[in-house]
Amino acid sequence: MILDFIPKLVPKSTQAAGLEVLMKGAGKFTRYIPIPQPTLMVGPGSSARMGEVIAGFGHSKVLIVTDGVISKLGLLKGVQDALHAGGTKTVVFDKITPDAPIPLIEEGLDFCREHDCDAIVAFGGGSSMDASKAIAIAMTNPKPLRSLAGYFKGRSNPLPIYAVPTTAGTGSEVTVAAVISDPSREDKVVIIDPRLVPKMAALDASLMTGLPPHVTAATGIDALTHAVESFVGNWATPYTNGMALAATGLIFENLRTCYRDGGNLAAREKMSLASTYAGLAFTRANVGYVHAIAHQFGGKYHTPHGLANAIMLPHVLRYSAPAIQKQLAQLAVRAKLGDDSERDDKLAEKFLDAVEELNRDLGIPLYLDKLQEADIPALAKAACYEAHTGYPVPKYMTQKQCEALIRQVLPPATKSSPTTATGKAVAKPAVRKAAAKKSSSK
Ligand SMILES: NC(=O)c1ccc[n+]([C@@H]2O[C@H](COP(=O)([O-])OP(=O)(O)OC[C@H]3O[C@@H](n4cnc5c(N)ncnc54)[C@H](O)[C@@H]3O)[C@@H](O)[C@H]2O)c1
Ligand SMILES: [Fe+2]
Repeated sequence: MILDFIPKLVPKSTQAAGLEVLMKGAGKFTRYIPIPQPTLMVGPGSSARMGEVIAGFGHSKVLIVTDGVISKLGLLKGVQDALHAGGTKTVVFDKITPDAPIPLIEEGLDFCREHDCDAIVAFGGGSSMDASKAIAIAMTNPKPLRSLAGYFKGRSNPLPIYAVPTTAGTGSEVTVAAVISDPSREDKVVIIDPRLVPKMAALDASLMTGLPPHVTAATGIDALTHAVESFVGNWATPYTNGMALAATGLIFENLRTCYRDGGNLAAREKMSLASTYAGLAFTRANVGYVHAIAHQFGGKYHTPHGLANAIMLPHVLRYSAPAIQKQLAQLAVRAKLGDDSERDDKLAEKFLDAVEELNRDLGIPLYLDKLQEADIPALAKAACYEAHTGYPVPKYMTQKQCEALIRQVLPPATKSSPTTATGKAVAKPAVRKAAAKKSSSK
Protein backbone atom coordinates (compact mmCIF):
# COMPACT_ATOMS: atom_id res chain seq x y z
CA MET A 1 0.00 0.00 0.00
CA ILE A 2 1.51 3.28 -1.11
CA LEU A 3 0.59 5.07 2.11
CA ASP A 4 2.74 2.64 4.09
CA PHE A 5 5.90 4.38 2.89
CA ILE A 6 4.95 7.88 3.97
CA PRO A 7 6.06 7.67 7.60
CA LYS A 8 9.47 6.40 6.52
CA LEU A 9 10.07 9.05 3.84
CA VAL A 10 8.78 12.20 5.47
CA PRO A 11 10.76 13.84 8.32
CA LYS A 12 8.97 13.60 11.69
CA SER A 13 8.55 17.38 11.99
CA THR A 14 6.56 17.63 8.78
CA GLN A 15 4.92 14.22 8.89
CA ALA A 16 1.69 15.30 10.57
CA ALA A 17 0.97 18.14 8.16
CA GLY A 18 2.07 16.08 5.15
CA LEU A 19 -0.01 13.09 6.14
CA GLU A 20 -3.05 15.23 6.72
CA VAL A 21 -2.86 16.70 3.23
CA LEU A 22 -2.20 13.29 1.67
CA MET A 23 -5.03 11.60 3.54
CA LYS A 24 -7.44 14.41 2.65
CA GLY A 25 -6.38 14.01 -0.98
CA ALA A 26 -6.93 10.27 -0.83
CA GLY A 27 -10.48 10.96 0.33
CA LYS A 28 -11.19 12.67 -3.00
CA PHE A 29 -10.67 9.25 -4.63
CA THR A 30 -12.02 6.89 -1.99
CA ARG A 31 -15.47 8.45 -2.24
CA TYR A 32 -15.74 7.12 -5.80
CA ILE A 33 -14.74 3.50 -5.04
CA PRO A 34 -17.84 1.44 -5.71
CA ILE A 35 -18.93 -0.37 -2.55
CA PRO A 36 -21.91 -2.71 -2.92
CA GLN A 37 -24.71 -2.60 -0.37
CA PRO A 38 -26.44 -5.76 0.77
CA THR A 39 -30.18 -6.21 0.41
CA LEU A 40 -31.45 -5.62 3.95
CA MET A 41 -34.31 -7.52 5.54
CA VAL A 42 -35.46 -5.95 8.80
CA GLY A 43 -37.76 -7.10 11.59
CA PRO A 44 -38.34 -9.97 14.01
CA GLY A 45 -38.19 -13.21 12.05
CA SER A 46 -36.24 -11.66 9.16
CA SER A 47 -33.44 -14.25 9.55
CA ALA A 48 -35.94 -16.99 8.65
CA ARG A 49 -37.28 -14.94 5.75
CA MET A 50 -33.73 -14.48 4.52
CA GLY A 51 -33.30 -18.26 4.68
CA GLU A 52 -36.29 -18.63 2.34
CA VAL A 53 -34.75 -16.13 -0.08
CA ILE A 54 -31.30 -17.77 0.01
CA ALA A 55 -32.90 -21.13 -0.77
CA GLY A 56 -34.08 -19.58 -4.03
CA PHE A 57 -30.46 -19.06 -5.15
CA GLY A 58 -29.98 -22.80 -5.57
CA HIS A 59 -26.79 -23.26 -3.54
CA SER A 60 -25.93 -26.93 -3.13
CA LYS A 61 -24.74 -26.69 0.49
CA VAL A 62 -24.54 -23.66 2.77
CA LEU A 63 -22.00 -23.36 5.58
CA ILE A 64 -23.34 -21.58 8.66
CA VAL A 65 -20.48 -20.03 10.62
CA THR A 66 -21.20 -19.04 14.21
CA ASP A 67 -20.09 -19.44 17.82
CA GLY A 68 -21.05 -22.03 20.43
CA VAL A 69 -23.16 -19.64 22.52
CA ILE A 70 -25.36 -18.74 19.58
CA SER A 71 -25.89 -22.31 18.43
CA LYS A 72 -26.68 -23.44 22.01
CA LEU A 73 -29.23 -20.64 22.36
CA GLY A 74 -31.03 -22.12 19.33
CA LEU A 75 -30.79 -18.86 17.36
CA LEU A 76 -29.95 -20.66 14.10
CA LYS A 77 -33.27 -22.48 13.92
CA GLY A 78 -35.18 -19.93 11.82
CA VAL A 79 -32.66 -19.64 9.03
CA GLN A 80 -31.76 -23.32 9.05
CA ASP A 81 -35.39 -24.53 8.93
CA ALA A 82 -36.14 -22.14 6.08
CA LEU A 83 -33.11 -23.30 4.09
CA HIS A 84 -34.03 -26.95 4.57
CA ALA A 85 -37.67 -26.29 3.68
CA GLY A 86 -36.42 -24.66 0.47
CA GLY A 87 -34.31 -27.72 -0.37
CA THR A 88 -30.89 -26.31 0.58
CA LYS A 89 -28.55 -28.44 2.68
CA THR A 90 -26.63 -26.83 5.55
CA VAL A 91 -23.67 -27.64 7.77
CA VAL A 92 -22.74 -25.70 10.89
CA PHE A 93 -19.26 -24.64 12.04
CA ASP A 94 -19.90 -23.22 15.51
CA LYS A 95 -16.44 -22.98 16.99
CA ILE A 96 -15.76 -19.27 16.45
CA THR A 97 -14.25 -17.46 19.43
CA PRO A 98 -13.94 -13.68 19.94
CA ASP A 99 -11.53 -12.03 17.46
CA ALA A 100 -11.33 -15.32 15.54
CA PRO A 101 -7.68 -16.41 15.45
CA ILE A 102 -6.12 -17.56 12.16
CA PRO A 103 -5.68 -21.26 13.15
CA LEU A 104 -9.41 -21.48 13.97
CA ILE A 105 -10.35 -19.88 10.66
CA GLU A 106 -8.13 -22.44 8.93
CA GLU A 107 -10.11 -25.15 10.70
CA GLY A 108 -13.32 -23.60 9.40
CA LEU A 109 -11.80 -23.42 5.95
CA ASP A 110 -10.98 -27.16 5.99
CA PHE A 111 -14.54 -27.87 7.18
CA CYS A 112 -15.96 -25.77 4.33
CA ARG A 113 -13.79 -27.60 1.76
CA GLU A 114 -14.59 -31.03 3.23
CA HIS A 115 -18.32 -30.35 2.88
CA ASP A 116 -17.96 -28.69 -0.51
CA CYS A 117 -20.01 -25.66 0.52
CA ASP A 118 -20.76 -23.00 -2.06
CA ALA A 119 -22.14 -20.19 0.14
CA ILE A 120 -21.81 -18.98 3.73
CA VAL A 121 -24.32 -17.69 6.26
CA ALA A 122 -22.32 -15.48 8.63
CA PHE A 123 -24.32 -15.71 11.84
CA GLY A 124 -23.27 -13.90 15.02
CA GLY A 125 -21.32 -10.93 16.26
CA GLY A 126 -18.41 -9.38 14.40
CA SER A 127 -16.17 -12.33 15.26
CA SER A 128 -18.40 -14.84 13.47
CA MET A 129 -19.16 -12.51 10.56
CA ASP A 130 -15.50 -11.66 10.02
CA ALA A 131 -14.41 -15.30 10.29
CA SER A 132 -17.04 -16.07 7.63
CA LYS A 133 -15.64 -13.37 5.35
CA ALA A 134 -12.11 -14.71 5.81
CA ILE A 135 -13.25 -18.28 5.03
CA ALA A 136 -15.21 -17.03 2.00
CA ILE A 137 -12.22 -15.32 0.42
CA ALA A 138 -9.68 -17.98 1.39
CA MET A 139 -11.87 -20.68 -0.20
CA THR A 140 -11.41 -19.12 -3.63
CA ASN A 141 -7.89 -17.76 -3.10
CA PRO A 142 -5.86 -20.62 -1.65
CA LYS A 143 -2.94 -18.92 0.07
CA PRO A 144 -1.95 -18.28 3.70
CA LEU A 145 -4.59 -16.18 5.45
CA ARG A 146 -2.05 -13.64 6.65
CA SER A 147 -1.13 -12.88 3.05
CA LEU A 148 -4.75 -11.95 2.30
CA ALA A 149 -4.50 -9.09 4.82
CA GLY A 150 -4.54 -5.60 3.35
CA TYR A 151 -6.37 -4.17 0.35
CA PHE A 152 -7.68 -6.31 -2.55
CA LYS A 153 -5.29 -9.25 -2.02
CA GLY A 154 -7.63 -11.93 -3.39
CA ARG A 155 -7.87 -12.43 -7.16
CA SER A 156 -11.05 -14.48 -7.28
CA ASN A 157 -14.46 -13.56 -5.94
CA PRO A 158 -15.18 -14.96 -2.46
CA LEU A 159 -18.05 -17.40 -1.88
CA PRO A 160 -21.33 -15.50 -1.52
CA ILE A 161 -21.94 -14.34 2.07
CA TYR A 162 -25.32 -13.76 3.74
CA ALA A 163 -25.13 -12.10 7.15
CA VAL A 164 -27.19 -12.27 10.32
CA PRO A 165 -25.70 -9.95 12.96
CA THR A 166 -26.57 -10.91 16.54
CA THR A 167 -24.85 -7.93 18.17
CA ALA A 168 -25.35 -4.22 17.41
CA GLY A 169 -22.45 -3.80 16.81
CA THR A 170 -19.73 -3.95 14.38
CA GLY A 171 -21.74 -3.24 11.24
CA SER A 172 -19.74 -6.02 9.58
CA GLU A 173 -22.92 -7.06 7.74
CA VAL A 174 -22.40 -4.06 5.44
CA THR A 175 -18.64 -3.49 5.51
CA VAL A 176 -15.72 -4.30 3.24
CA ALA A 177 -13.58 -5.53 6.14
CA ALA A 178 -12.80 -8.75 7.96
CA VAL A 179 -10.83 -8.29 11.19
CA ILE A 180 -9.12 -11.46 12.42
CA SER A 181 -6.35 -12.08 14.91
CA ASP A 182 -2.91 -13.56 14.53
CA PRO A 183 -1.96 -15.08 17.92
CA SER A 184 1.61 -15.75 16.76
CA ARG A 185 2.22 -12.00 16.48
CA GLU A 186 -0.27 -10.79 19.12
CA ASP A 187 -1.92 -8.52 16.57
CA LYS A 188 -5.10 -8.11 14.57
CA VAL A 189 -5.06 -8.07 10.80
CA VAL A 190 -7.65 -6.69 8.42
CA ILE A 191 -8.66 -8.08 5.03
CA ILE A 192 -10.28 -5.34 2.96
CA ASP A 193 -12.17 -5.96 -0.25
CA PRO A 194 -15.53 -4.61 -1.49
CA ARG A 195 -16.40 -8.16 -2.59
CA LEU A 196 -16.52 -9.13 1.10
CA VAL A 197 -19.71 -7.13 1.57
CA PRO A 198 -22.47 -9.69 2.16
CA LYS A 199 -25.11 -10.11 -0.57
CA MET A 200 -27.93 -9.89 1.96
CA ALA A 201 -28.26 -9.14 5.66
CA ALA A 202 -31.11 -9.79 8.08
CA LEU A 203 -31.49 -7.37 11.00
CA ASP A 204 -33.51 -9.61 13.29
CA ALA A 205 -33.77 -7.98 16.70
CA SER A 206 -35.51 -11.04 18.16
CA LEU A 207 -32.07 -12.73 18.12
CA MET A 208 -30.59 -9.96 20.27
CA THR A 209 -32.89 -9.94 23.30
CA GLY A 210 -30.65 -12.36 25.22
CA LEU A 211 -27.45 -10.41 24.62
CA PRO A 212 -25.87 -9.85 28.07
CA PRO A 213 -25.80 -6.20 29.28
CA HIS A 214 -22.00 -5.87 29.20
CA VAL A 215 -21.89 -7.10 25.59
CA THR A 216 -24.81 -4.80 24.69
CA ALA A 217 -22.87 -1.89 26.19
CA ALA A 218 -19.52 -2.57 24.56
CA THR A 219 -20.90 -3.41 21.12
CA GLY A 220 -23.23 -0.40 21.25
CA ILE A 221 -20.31 1.94 21.91
CA ASP A 222 -18.42 0.26 19.05
CA ALA A 223 -21.28 1.36 16.79
CA LEU A 224 -21.16 4.87 18.28
CA THR A 225 -17.40 4.98 17.67
CA HIS A 226 -17.93 4.02 14.01
CA ALA A 227 -20.47 6.80 13.63
CA VAL A 228 -18.35 9.44 15.38
CA GLU A 229 -14.98 8.54 13.84
CA SER A 230 -16.42 8.45 10.32
CA PHE A 231 -18.23 11.76 10.93
CA VAL A 232 -15.21 13.69 12.20
CA GLY A 233 -12.67 12.18 9.77
CA ASN A 234 -11.47 13.72 6.52
CA TRP A 235 -13.16 11.20 4.20
CA ALA A 236 -16.70 11.99 5.31
CA THR A 237 -19.22 12.57 2.53
CA PRO A 238 -22.81 13.85 2.68
CA TYR A 239 -23.96 10.22 2.47
CA THR A 240 -21.73 8.96 5.29
CA ASN A 241 -22.61 12.01 7.39
CA GLY A 242 -26.32 11.25 7.02
CA MET A 243 -25.74 7.68 8.15
CA ALA A 244 -23.44 8.66 11.02
CA LEU A 245 -25.85 11.28 12.36
CA ALA A 246 -28.80 8.88 12.15
CA ALA A 247 -26.81 6.22 13.99
CA THR A 248 -25.73 8.67 16.71
CA GLY A 249 -29.31 9.80 17.35
CA LEU A 250 -30.58 6.22 17.54
CA ILE A 251 -27.77 5.13 19.88
CA PHE A 252 -28.31 7.98 22.35
CA GLU A 253 -32.05 7.23 22.32
CA ASN A 254 -31.90 3.45 22.62
CA LEU A 255 -28.64 2.04 23.96
CA ARG A 256 -29.40 2.70 27.63
CA THR A 257 -32.79 1.00 27.22
CA CYS A 258 -31.21 -2.08 25.63
CA TYR A 259 -28.65 -2.23 28.45
CA ARG A 260 -31.25 -2.03 31.23
CA ASP A 261 -34.07 -3.91 29.51
CA GLY A 262 -32.55 -6.39 27.07
CA GLY A 263 -35.94 -7.77 26.09
CA ASN A 264 -37.14 -4.46 24.67
CA LEU A 265 -37.55 -5.48 21.04
CA ALA A 266 -38.26 -1.98 19.70
CA ALA A 267 -35.06 -0.57 21.24
CA ARG A 268 -33.07 -3.61 20.06
CA GLU A 269 -34.30 -3.06 16.50
CA LYS A 270 -33.33 0.63 16.61
CA MET A 271 -29.85 -0.36 17.83
CA SER A 272 -29.48 -2.91 15.05
CA LEU A 273 -30.38 -0.21 12.51
CA ALA A 274 -27.94 2.19 14.16
CA SER A 275 -25.17 -0.36 13.94
CA THR A 276 -25.86 -0.96 10.25
CA TYR A 277 -26.04 2.78 9.48
CA ALA A 278 -22.75 3.33 11.32
CA GLY A 279 -21.26 0.44 9.31
CA LEU A 280 -22.38 2.07 6.06
CA ALA A 281 -20.73 5.30 7.21
CA PHE A 282 -17.37 3.94 8.26
CA THR A 283 -16.93 1.39 5.51
CA ARG A 284 -16.53 4.40 3.20
CA ALA A 285 -15.29 7.18 5.51
CA ASN A 286 -13.14 4.92 7.72
CA VAL A 287 -12.31 5.17 11.43
CA GLY A 288 -9.58 6.86 13.47
CA TYR A 289 -7.30 6.72 16.51
CA VAL A 290 -9.90 5.11 18.78
CA HIS A 291 -9.91 2.04 16.56
CA ALA A 292 -6.17 2.19 15.93
CA ILE A 293 -5.53 2.01 19.68
CA ALA A 294 -8.36 -0.46 20.38
CA HIS A 295 -6.96 -2.91 17.83
CA GLN A 296 -3.66 -2.94 19.74
CA PHE A 297 -5.47 -3.63 23.04
CA GLY A 298 -7.36 -6.46 21.32
CA GLY A 299 -4.21 -7.98 19.83
CA LYS A 300 -2.11 -7.74 22.99
CA TYR A 301 -4.61 -8.26 25.81
CA HIS A 302 -7.67 -9.77 24.04
CA THR A 303 -9.76 -6.85 25.25
CA PRO A 304 -13.20 -7.12 23.60
CA HIS A 305 -13.24 -4.76 20.64
CA GLY A 306 -16.19 -2.65 21.78
CA LEU A 307 -14.86 -2.33 25.31
CA ALA A 308 -11.44 -1.17 24.08
CA ASN A 309 -13.13 1.46 21.89
CA ALA A 310 -15.40 2.58 24.70
CA ILE A 311 -12.48 3.11 27.09
CA MET A 312 -10.51 5.16 24.55
CA LEU A 313 -13.33 7.13 22.89
CA PRO A 314 -13.60 9.99 25.43
CA HIS A 315 -9.82 10.49 25.48
CA VAL A 316 -9.33 10.58 21.72
CA LEU A 317 -12.34 12.88 21.30
CA ARG A 318 -10.99 15.36 23.86
CA TYR A 319 -7.61 15.31 22.09
CA SER A 320 -9.23 15.95 18.69
CA ALA A 321 -11.87 18.40 19.94
CA PRO A 322 -10.14 21.66 18.88
CA ALA A 323 -10.12 20.43 15.26
CA ILE A 324 -13.66 19.06 15.18
CA GLN A 325 -15.75 21.47 17.22
CA LYS A 326 -18.33 22.00 14.48
CA GLN A 327 -18.85 18.26 13.92
CA LEU A 328 -19.11 17.59 17.66
CA ALA A 329 -21.73 20.34 17.86
CA GLN A 330 -23.74 18.67 15.06
CA LEU A 331 -23.50 15.32 16.83
CA ALA A 332 -24.72 16.97 20.04
CA VAL A 333 -27.78 18.38 18.30
CA ARG A 334 -28.59 14.97 16.77
CA ALA A 335 -28.18 13.36 20.19
CA LYS A 336 -30.74 15.89 21.48
CA LEU A 337 -28.26 17.47 23.88
CA GLY A 338 -28.97 21.00 22.70
CA ASP A 339 -30.15 22.95 19.67
CA ASP A 340 -28.66 24.81 16.73
CA SER A 341 -29.03 28.19 18.37
CA GLU A 342 -26.31 27.37 20.91
CA ARG A 343 -22.62 28.10 20.33
CA ASP A 344 -20.59 25.30 18.76
CA ASP A 345 -18.07 25.21 21.60
CA LYS A 346 -20.85 24.76 24.17
CA LEU A 347 -22.53 22.04 22.12
CA ALA A 348 -19.20 20.27 21.52
CA GLU A 349 -18.53 20.24 25.26
CA LYS A 350 -22.01 18.82 25.86
CA PHE A 351 -21.29 15.98 23.44
CA LEU A 352 -17.97 15.14 25.10
CA ASP A 353 -19.65 15.13 28.51
CA ALA A 354 -22.53 13.01 27.19
CA VAL A 355 -20.19 10.33 25.83
CA GLU A 356 -18.56 10.08 29.26
CA GLU A 357 -21.95 9.93 30.94
CA LEU A 358 -23.16 7.24 28.55
CA ASN A 359 -20.04 5.18 29.27
CA ARG A 360 -20.65 5.56 32.98
CA ASP A 361 -24.32 4.57 32.73
CA LEU A 362 -23.29 1.46 30.78
CA GLY A 363 -20.71 0.37 33.36
CA ILE A 364 -17.75 0.97 31.03
CA PRO A 365 -14.57 1.07 33.12
CA LEU A 366 -12.33 4.11 33.12
CA TYR A 367 -9.17 2.02 32.99
CA LEU A 368 -7.94 -0.94 30.99
CA ASP A 369 -7.18 -3.44 33.72
CA LYS A 370 -4.53 -5.41 31.81
CA LEU A 371 -2.57 -2.39 30.57
CA GLN A 372 1.10 -2.32 31.62
CA GLU A 373 3.25 0.81 31.60
CA ALA A 374 6.07 -1.10 29.89
CA ASP A 375 3.80 -1.99 26.94
CA ILE A 376 2.68 1.56 26.21
CA PRO A 377 5.46 2.68 23.79
CA ALA A 378 5.00 -0.36 21.54
CA LEU A 379 1.21 -0.07 21.66
CA ALA A 380 1.38 3.62 20.74
CA LYS A 381 3.86 2.96 17.96
CA ALA A 382 1.65 0.30 16.41
CA ALA A 383 -1.47 2.44 16.82
CA CYS A 384 0.18 5.45 15.16
CA TYR A 385 1.41 3.25 12.34
CA GLU A 386 -2.09 1.88 11.78
CA ALA A 387 -3.71 5.31 11.92
CA HIS A 388 -1.10 7.13 9.86
CA THR A 389 -1.10 4.57 7.07
CA GLY A 390 -4.82 4.17 6.73
CA TYR A 391 -7.09 6.48 8.67
CA PRO A 392 -8.10 10.04 7.69
CA VAL A 393 -7.94 11.37 11.26
CA PRO A 394 -8.88 15.02 11.82
CA LYS A 395 -5.93 15.86 14.11
CA TYR A 396 -2.68 13.93 13.93
CA MET A 397 -0.69 12.99 17.03
CA THR A 398 2.91 12.03 17.59
CA GLN A 399 3.85 8.75 19.17
CA LYS A 400 4.59 10.56 22.45
CA GLN A 401 1.12 12.17 22.42
CA CYS A 402 -0.41 8.77 21.73
CA GLU A 403 1.54 7.27 24.63
CA ALA A 404 0.23 10.02 26.92
CA LEU A 405 -3.31 9.31 25.77
CA ILE A 406 -2.98 5.58 26.42
CA ARG A 407 -1.40 6.30 29.80
CA GLN A 408 -4.68 7.95 30.81
CA VAL A 409 -6.31 4.51 30.95
CA LEU A 410 -3.54 2.84 32.92
CA PRO A 411 -5.06 1.55 36.17
CA PRO A 412 -3.93 3.65 39.13
CA ALA A 413 -1.61 1.87 41.58
CA THR A 414 -4.04 2.56 44.41
CA LYS A 415 -7.40 0.87 44.11
CA SER A 416 -9.35 3.68 45.75
CA SER A 417 -11.47 4.42 42.66
CA PRO A 418 -15.12 3.37 42.67
CA THR A 419 -15.74 0.15 40.83
CA THR A 420 -18.43 -1.42 38.69
CA ALA A 421 -20.27 -4.57 39.64
CA THR A 422 -17.56 -6.53 37.85
CA GLY A 423 -14.90 -5.03 40.08
CA LYS A 424 -13.51 -2.73 37.41
CA ALA A 425 -12.76 0.87 38.16
CA VAL A 426 -15.37 3.23 36.82
CA ALA A 427 -15.08 6.96 36.27
CA LYS A 428 -16.54 9.81 38.24
CA PRO A 429 -17.43 12.54 35.71
CA ALA A 430 -14.93 14.95 37.26
CA VAL A 431 -12.16 12.36 37.15
CA ARG A 432 -12.94 11.55 33.53
CA LYS A 433 -12.87 15.21 32.57
CA ALA A 434 -9.63 15.98 34.38
CA ALA A 435 -7.89 12.94 32.94
CA ALA A 436 -8.98 13.74 29.42
CA LYS A 437 -8.15 17.43 29.64
CA LYS A 438 -4.67 16.55 30.82
CA SER A 439 -4.15 14.32 27.79
CA SER A 440 -5.53 16.81 25.29
CA SER A 441 -3.16 19.51 26.49
CA LYS A 442 -0.11 17.40 25.62
N1 LIG B 1 -15.63 -6.19 9.87
C1 LIG B 1 -15.85 -5.04 10.42
O1 LIG B 1 -16.18 -4.09 9.74
C2 LIG B 1 -15.68 -4.89 11.90
C3 LIG B 1 -15.99 -3.69 12.54
C4 LIG B 1 -15.83 -3.60 13.91
C5 LIG B 1 -15.37 -4.70 14.64
N2 LIG B 1 -15.05 -5.86 13.99
C6 LIG B 1 -14.55 -7.04 14.71
O2 LIG B 1 -15.66 -7.74 15.26
C7 LIG B 1 -15.23 -8.45 16.42
C8 LIG B 1 -16.11 -8.15 17.60
O3 LIG B 1 -17.45 -8.49 17.32
P1 LIG B 1 -18.58 -8.27 18.42
O4 LIG B 1 -18.27 -7.06 19.19
O5 LIG B 1 -19.88 -8.32 17.72
O6 LIG B 1 -18.40 -9.48 19.44
P2 LIG B 1 -18.28 -11.08 19.25
O7 LIG B 1 -18.76 -11.53 17.92
O8 LIG B 1 -16.89 -11.45 19.62
O9 LIG B 1 -19.31 -11.57 20.34
C9 LIG B 1 -19.12 -11.22 21.71
C10 LIG B 1 -19.81 -12.20 22.62
O10 LIG B 1 -21.21 -12.06 22.52
C11 LIG B 1 -21.84 -13.33 22.35
N3 LIG B 1 -23.05 -13.11 21.57
C12 LIG B 1 -23.15 -12.61 20.32
N4 LIG B 1 -24.42 -12.48 19.96
C13 LIG B 1 -25.16 -12.94 20.99
C14 LIG B 1 -26.57 -13.05 21.23
N5 LIG B 1 -27.46 -12.64 20.31
N6 LIG B 1 -26.99 -13.54 22.41
C15 LIG B 1 -26.09 -13.89 23.36
N7 LIG B 1 -24.75 -13.82 23.20
C16 LIG B 1 -24.29 -13.33 22.03
C17 LIG B 1 -20.81 -14.17 21.65
O11 LIG B 1 -21.02 -15.54 21.89
C18 LIG B 1 -19.51 -13.67 22.28
O12 LIG B 1 -19.25 -14.34 23.48
C19 LIG B 1 -13.80 -8.00 16.68
O13 LIG B 1 -12.89 -8.96 16.20
C20 LIG B 1 -13.69 -6.71 15.90
O14 LIG B 1 -12.37 -6.39 15.54
C21 LIG B 1 -15.22 -5.96 12.66
FE1 LIG C 1 -15.27 -1.19 15.54
